Amino acid sequence: MFTNVKEEEKKKQKKKELTQPKPKVSISSTSISSGHSLSHCASSSSLSPSLLFPMPSLHLLPGATTAPNSTFLLRPHSPLLPSKTLTPKKPKPKPPSALLQWNRKPELSGSIPRVTVITSGKGGVGKTTTTANIGLSLARLGFSVVAIDADVGLRNLDLLLGLENRVNYTVIEVLNGDCRLDQALVRDKRWSNFELLCISKPRSKLPLGFGGKALTWLVDALKARPQGSPDFILIDCPAGIDAGFITAITPANEAVLITTPDITSLRDADRVTGLLECDGIRDIKMIVNRVRTDMIKGEDMLSVLDVQEMLGLPLLGAIPEDTEVIRSTNRGYPLVLNKPPTLAGLAFEQAAWRLVEQDSMQAVVVEEQPKRGFFSFFGG
Ligand SMILES: Nc1ncnc2c1ncn2[C@@H]1O[C@H](COP(=O)(O)OP(=O)(O)O)[C@@H](O)[C@H]1O
Ligand SMILES: [Mg+2]
Repeated sequence: MFTNVKEEEKKKQKKKELTQPKPKVSISSTSISSGHSLSHCASSSSLSPSLLFPMPSLHLLPGATTAPNSTFLLRPHSPLLPSKTLTPKKPKPKPPSALLQWNRKPELSGSIPRVTVITSGKGGVGKTTTTANIGLSLARLGFSVVAIDADVGLRNLDLLLGLENRVNYTVIEVLNGDCRLDQALVRDKRWSNFELLCISKPRSKLPLGFGGKALTWLVDALKARPQGSPDFILIDCPAGIDAGFITAITPANEAVLITTPDITSLRDADRVTGLLECDGIRDIKMIVNRVRTDMIKGEDMLSVLDVQEMLGLPLLGAIPEDTEVIRSTNRGYPLVLNKPPTLAGLAFEQAAWRLVEQDSMQAVVVEEQPKRGFFSFFGG
């Protein structure tokens, strides 16, 4: 009888245990590092972490080992989730500054390769500086780039890029059959998807037959390389409008016109625009270089808007006057690689971005009234 009572008590205890409600499972939104609320996910705690935190499909750019998307910050700290999600946090490598600005990779518009000539008319306005900085910006954004220094007389793109000691062969040797094309291409060690090609050695004479046809053959050879065509072929054009200019623009199907906000440069730019159009290059965008806001405010310099109104071209970028440009030129280390980026470096990066997407920007009005008298210099 006594044992029966004991057994009865034991059964009651077990029943009580089974019918008692289990403690509730909940994930508090405060445990999410990004600040995104996940309280709606509390009921689905049985789901795998990948379903809870879907990873978007993103293209990783060279050098960027972490995807530039805030969704990746959605790392749960709750101990209720499987232990494999609780791996110790690695220090995140910093993505390139271009990615920080836009948080995505630009979409390449137009057909590959984009053969772009960087030209100006007037010398010393920043063609080579632009070719180096835009070229490396494009490479940093993940595009393959070949920059051709077509300024045969005053070759200096190799110096700006710090690659002068690595130019063993040039196009002249390729054309003479002394080396292969890939031997003449100098790969940048910082960004391996950037290559430099020089037409000739400094002070060496160019063969008489070298002209537009030879450069077009070269561009076709680059397109037909076994590893595939580069995304961009940038041609650094010599100053002036003579034979060197004609040669440089022949294979191009688009142009970036560099000008400074002064009347001599603008007149030359206007002349070059006409010549480019005559040659069938209708896609012309401009970069206004060496802009000084202090001088614009003091009405001593044309504003970017004035320049845009005068030339009537879409604006790819406005680059401020920056002593860092000169410093980087002398160091053979293009400005866009500087950390932290300078104002001019960021402006070059933005121009590269617009070049990829075939976009243009609106000039900012700095002065209220455009200066009088400037419109007359075109002779109209
Ligand atoms: N935004 C700028 N700010 C300051 N100096 C600049 C700027 N752009 C170019 N320069 C300087 O102007 C000079 C000529 O530039 P360069 O690119 O060689 O011109 P180009 O190729 O048209 O002859 C160089 O010394 C360069 O450092
Ligand atoms: Mg130059």
